[in-house]
Amino acid sequence: MAAEGKCLARHENLVIFVKDVAPGDVVDLKITKQKKNFLEASPVYFHAYSDLRVEPFCEHFGVCGGCKWQHIGYETQLFFKQKQVKDNLERIGKIGVKPIIPIKASNKTAYYRNKLEYTFSNNSWLTTEQIQSDQEYDRNALGFHIPARFDKILDIKHCYLQPDPSNNIRLSVRQHAKLHNLVFFNMVKMEGFLRNLIIRMANTGDVMVIVQVYYEDMLALTGLLEHLKINFSEITSLQYVINGKGNETFHDLEVICFHGEPYIHEEMEGLRFRVGPKSFYQTNSDQAYELYKITRDFAGLTGSEVVYDLYTGAGTIANFVAHQAKKVIGVEYVASAIEDAKLNSSINNINNTKFYAGDIKEVLNDTFMQEHGQPDVIITDPPRAGMHPEVVEKLNQLRANRIVYVSCNPATQARDLEVLSAHYEVIKIQPVDMFPQTHHVENVVLLELKA
Ligand SMILES: C[S@@+](CC[C@H](N)C(=O)[O-])C[C@H]1O[C@@H](n2cnc3c(N)ncnc32)[C@H](O)[C@@H]1O
Repeated sequence: MAAEGKCLARHENLVIFVKDVAPGDVVDLKITKQKKNFLEASPVYFHAYSDLRVEPFCEHFGVCGGCKWQHIGYETQLFFKQKQVKDNLERIGKIGVKPIIPIKASNKTAYYRNKLEYTFSNNSWLTTEQIQSDQEYDRNALGFHIPARFDKILDIKHCYLQPDPSNNIRLSVRQHAKLHNLVFFNMVKMEGFLRNLIIRMANTGDVMVIVQVYYEDMLALTGLLEHLKINFSEITSLQYVINGKGNETFHDLEVICFHGEPYIHEEMEGLRFRVGPKSFYQTNSDQAYELYKITRDFAGLTGSEVVYDLYTGAGTIANFVAHQAKKVIGVEYVASAIEDAKLNSSINNINNTKFYAGDIKEVLNDTFMQEHGQPDVIITDPPRAGMHPEVVEKLNQLRANRIVYVSCNPATQARDLEVLSAHYEVIKIQPVDMFPQTHHVENVVLLELKA
């Protein structure tokens, strides 16, 4: 098993990355891409199936880009995730052989996500069998993007990622839209009304639904929103966005609350976290708790430390560790998430946190340091791209005693760790499985300043 969930094969000293197979399958391959140092391929004929295979439980497996590892058992998935962390740290990070704590498995291996984003399209993906049959198919789809195809959407019948009432809400929106002739979007021509549907479900039972449309047609929109309000009493926050832009992102647009509150609440160890429509919140709430406990444990706080929480999102880690620290400073560039972070401190009576909106690269300057003091502990949780090289350099200069590096991409984490190794030693490594049935792995690393 290689990076990005692909498998690795060799032929006459050539490395071939193969998608849609399991380690141990015996297959004939068709080369799909030829690069200087490697090839990419897809299977065309299976001579034998690997013993590691299990029967995928979702009818959309193999077409949908969502759960690409359903064909291998959960224990095997964990084995390969642990290995992925080890390989990246050793090869890219040049960390040397370090013991890695066994990966923290997820109790739930299905229905574990708190957020899903579905796209409307009037150009649904058809399978080869559908194309070859003479049947007419409804081309309206509400579902997920086909991997690497921005314009092709797979109509989802049942998704195993988010618990009830997620599937019912999606199916009901689809049915209402069909009944009332609401036009599904066409991403090539950029026309149509319905663009996307976001469902967020919190562990408190709160449910947020956001409907994005391309233009203002309040009659059609209100009809759909009323339909949701009447049929799903579980929805505590019903919102909409009118998005006439070229893409579906709405961080720069107004999100309007139609019914209920404009946010939902997550709960953790008695703390309540307010999550707005634009805020990041870890998508597997149960495992987020495990991840944060590990992070807090690695930070080794005694109550006297100044902690910087970089890439703080809605300030969840900052607020989670605040009781064990002297003060916590959180930095994040989404301004509305910082507003949530401040609110999350105030609704939980936490008075020793401060939050700043801005690019970490710009914010972490001398004035900032003078104002907040030298950090004893830095917690950093960057997006998949990892930290900007200037931020990594800055961390080397700041010389905090400990750095806890939380990452959703062990490859970029390993790259950053190599630079940090100028002043820091890796002490502990703990992978966490936030996303069962996928190749994604989260990893927490404790670094200590070298003597
Ligand atoms: C993986 S999330 C971590 C969020 C948070 N630590 C949590 O556990 O909920 C990464 C966060 O970094 C923010 N971000 C990405 N690049 C940034 C930058 N250059 N400066 C500040 N924040 C950034 C994103 O908006 C996102 O909220």
